[in-house]
Amino acid sequence: MQMGMRLGAAILLSFSLLLLPASRAFPLCTDARAPVVLNETLGFCASYNGSSSSCCDAAADAALRSQFNAMNVSDAACAAVLKSILCAKCSPYSADLFDAGPKIRTIPFLCNSTSSATSAQSKETTQDYCKLVWETCKDVKIMNSPFQPPLQGSATLPSTSSKLTDAWQSENDFCTLFGGAPNDQSVCFSGNVVSFNTTQPSPSPKGICLERIDNGSYLNMAPHPDGSNRIFLGSQAGKIWLATVPEQGSGGTLQFEEASPFVDLTDQVHFDSVFGLMGLAFHPKFATNGRFFASYNCDRTKSPSCTGRCSCNSDVSCDPSKLGTDNGAQPCQYQVVVSEYSAKGSSANVSEVTSADPSEVRRIFTMGLPYGSQHGGQVLFGPTDGYLYLMMGDGGKGDPFNFAQNKKSLLGKIVRLDIDNTPRESDITNKSFWGNYSIPKDNPYADDSDLEPEIWALGLRNPWRCSFDSERPSYFFCGDTGQDQYEEVDLISKGGNYGWRAYEGPLVYHPSWAPGGNTSLNYINTIPPIMGYSHADVNKNIGSASIMGGYVYRGSTDPCLSGRYLYADLYASAMWTGTETPESSGNYTSTLIPFSCSKDSPIPCDTAAGSPLPSLGYIYSFGEDNSKDIYVLASKGVYRVVRPSLCDYTCPTEKAATNRPPGPSSKAPAIGMSKQMRVLLLSVIMFWVLVR
Ligand SMILES: *[C@@H]1O[C@H](CO)[C@@H](O)[C@H](O)[C@H]1NC(C)=O
Ligand SMILES: *[C@@H]1O[C@H](CO)[C@@H](O)[C@H](O)[C@H]1NC(C)=O
Ligand SMILES: *[C@@H]1O[C@H](CO)[C@@H](O)[C@H](O)[C@H]1NC(C)=O
Ligand SMILES: *[C@@H]1O[C@H](CO)[C@@H](O)[C@H](O)[C@H]1NC(C)=O
Ligand SMILES: *[C@@H]1O[C@H](CO)[C@@H](O)[C@H](O)[C@H]1NC(C)=O
Ligand SMILES: *[C@@H]1O[C@H](CO)[C@@H](O)[C@H](O)[C@H]1NC(C)=O
Ligand SMILES: *[C@@H]1O[C@H](CO)[C@@H](O)[C@H](O)[C@H]1NC(C)=O
Ligand SMILES: *[C@@H]1O[C@H](CO)[C@@H](O)[C@H](O)[C@H]1NC(C)=O
Ligand SMILES: *[C@@H]1O[C@H](CO)[C@@H](O)[C@H](O)[C@H]1NC(C)=O
Ligand SMILES: *[C@@H]1O[C@H](CO)[C@@H](O)[C@H](O)[C@H]1NC(C)=O
Ligand SMILES: *[C@@H]1O[C@H](CO)[C@@H](O)[C@H](O)[C@H]1NC(C)=O
Repeated sequence: MQMGMRLGAAILLSFSLLLLPASRAFPLCTDARAPVVLNETLGFCASYNGSSSSCCDAAADAALRSQFNAMNVSDAACAAVLKSILCAKCSPYSADLFDAGPKIRTIPFLCNSTSSATSAQSKETTQDYCKLVWETCKDVKIMNSPFQPPLQGSATLPSTSSKLTDAWQSENDFCTLFGGAPNDQSVCFSGNVVSFNTTQPSPSPKGICLERIDNGSYLNMAPHPDGSNRIFLGSQAGKIWLATVPEQGSGGTLQFEEASPFVDLTDQVHFDSVFGLMGLAFHPKFATNGRFFASYNCDRTKSPSCTGRCSCNSDVSCDPSKLGTDNGAQPCQYQVVVSEYSAKGSSANVSEVTSADPSEVRRIFTMGLPYGSQHGGQVLFGPTDGYLYLMMGDGGKGDPFNFAQNKKSLLGKIVRLDIDNTPRESDITNKSFWGNYSIPKDNPYADDSDLEPEIWALGLRNPWRCSFDSERPSYFFCGDTGQDQYEEVDLISKGGNYGWRAYEGPLVYHPSWAPGGNTSLNYINTIPPIMGYSHADVNKNIGSASIMGGYVYRGSTDPCLSGRYLYADLYASAMWTGTETPESSGNYTSTLIPFSCSKDSPIPCDTAAGSPLPSLGYIYSFGEDNSKDIYVLASKGVYRVVRPSLCDYTCPTEKAATNRPPGPSSKAPAIGMSKQMRVLLLSVIMFWVLVR
């Protein structure tokens, strides 16, 4: 009787089809491939066939069948549970479920009671799936059991029959090892087939409407972590200002005093065409601890504290004397530095602080660059893990020493550091580290002393502007600048290899000079870009191309951009939107999109001769504020995405107006309201009266 019920429950669990609401994870297979829509049926893991994407093909399905048969499980209920667990490899989220890159678990994370709240699946089915597995299978003999205790301490389970109770004393022991969800709390396996939400995306945008709210040229922008309507703006030369953002529709410009920056780091920063203040990040608890971080370049010949170890060293079989000079610069003359500063000094309440001490509190990281280009330098805090991500380029010159594929080098990598826990002194004095930080335990190479434990992902050429989707933080996007032919957008995952210099985008790359050798294509599993464009598509008149990674639009101002990833090219007057269909599938289609200048733009935009598009100058970066409005940081100023109707782009779902009427507490608009604005405002007030 009890057995029958359990069998029923197991079958129900393994065949019920659940959608993953607003998925937190992005789909990826354990072999680093994106899942594909099956064009064939799976005979064994049949619940994955049909229309949903899967990580299994017929061969993988057959291998799982063999593995299942080799377990020789006679108990039907346990067999059904084991089958659904094995078949989780076919899930389009298998990389997350099995925590791939580079270590693949034998068993997916099994949802237990503590993880069910974050698994984003319906409650009754996620409650203690781990407990159900334990209770259904604990006394069942399993051959070649996939449930293996950790190697240290206990021996592995024999390939002859064993029961779960041979290795674990209790459900608690068992679920401490197999239960839960990976660190970013994205997904765990609850016995259900997870498939994609096929909801249609928002109506297609006709164009991006921009207003110019400042004349200045900046490289970095970050919202104030206190959630207020303020942003930090950093210039390449090394000044950082704290500016108040005007309300949408107010006609105002950014408010700040140019002569009184929040902090002036120009004395530390080496500023030259490709060098300067490259990144800016505020600690997630900045509002209470006042900690903030700047990533910049220094010049060893000018600054005594510019003393990082050279990235060209014997660990990576690189001899600095063989690098040659680059534009007159000596190897490792220029360095990448991450420094910590404090805004705590001037007031107990960090929200009220308007200037910070420019003296460094702590040197986090210093590394010498082989050449004078392609050194990335953006810094970002992970929204779910709180770790500091540093984007490192390959160092330049087409990566002759193949650093980007070398796991003993931090060049061409996404680096992930824990700046909250201080390292053991020996790690610093031993020079095994590049500064003062510790290693997050779940970094992919954290346990391998032969590899650089700081690495999160590899195979990047020059990651130029990465962002986390604010609604789905496991979507971590990076634009990666191409060499000669192709600019790409990557979805970064743990241990992921994005191909450079074996590949440039989807194309095989043939280096003209490769003293450091090549990486064989057969030897690596690379993750192809999700979007990109060929130089031939944009540089007909410009002769150059360089991608500018942007953001997934989550603002409310232009609902037609909602959920779409915006990116641009530095030189070309070109912007794209990337749309994921189906939702949470990782399948992106990008579309070139026109842009225009709002007729109410507080500072009129420049027109470009012979082009319907306004001239923004060079596009250096994108930014996002606390309202999730998106900004373009260009050489001619700061441009904010505004309501599409202000550019005569129709978006059927655009709301009448999103700004509050100017009251006594808000600043008067800098320009007079148009008649259209007054009508809109009136309708907002009437709506407000109605809904009260
Ligand atoms: C599918 O997506 C839509 C729009 O994002 C969302 O409102 C809805 O809840 C989702 N449905 C499910 C079952 O996840
Ligand atoms: C499915 O697609 C793959 C690759 O596109 C192809 O090689 C294979 O023959 C197809 N299978 C069927 C059953 O159509
Ligand atoms: C999957 O394919 C198998 C074999 O063709 C078939 O028996 C099964 O009904 C299919 N299942 C689903 C859910 O489509
Ligand atoms: C599989 O299990 C059955 C019954 O539980 C047993 O008779 C048989 O010998 C087992 N097969 C193998 C290869 O161990
Ligand atoms: C659930 O999983 C977590 C993470 O693996 C684990 O620490 C916890 O002890 C588990 N809870 C139970 C009740 O087993
Ligand atoms: C922007 O720059 C133009 C000239 O380039 C100047 O006339 C104008 O006053 C500036 N506007 C603001 C708000 O700084
Ligand atoms: C800090 O200052 C802000 C802005 O003035 C204020 O809103 C907030 O309540 C203050 N916080 C504390 C803890 O005093
Ligand atoms: C340097 O590191 C190694 C291994 O990481 C360790 O065994 C050794 O004690 C360290 N040396 C010093 C001087 O701390
Ligand atoms: C590392 O940083 C911590 C925290 O600021 C500090 O106490 C320690 O002295 C630093 N160590 C070195 C070697 O700089
Ligand atoms: C590396 O690849 C390039 C271009 O494909 C080739 O010319 C060169 O000989 C290769 N170098 C080595 C060491 O294999
Ligand atoms: C990817 O998106 C395109 C465009 O919407 C669509 O035609 C295609 O079927 C999608 N592919 C997959 C694998 O979902």
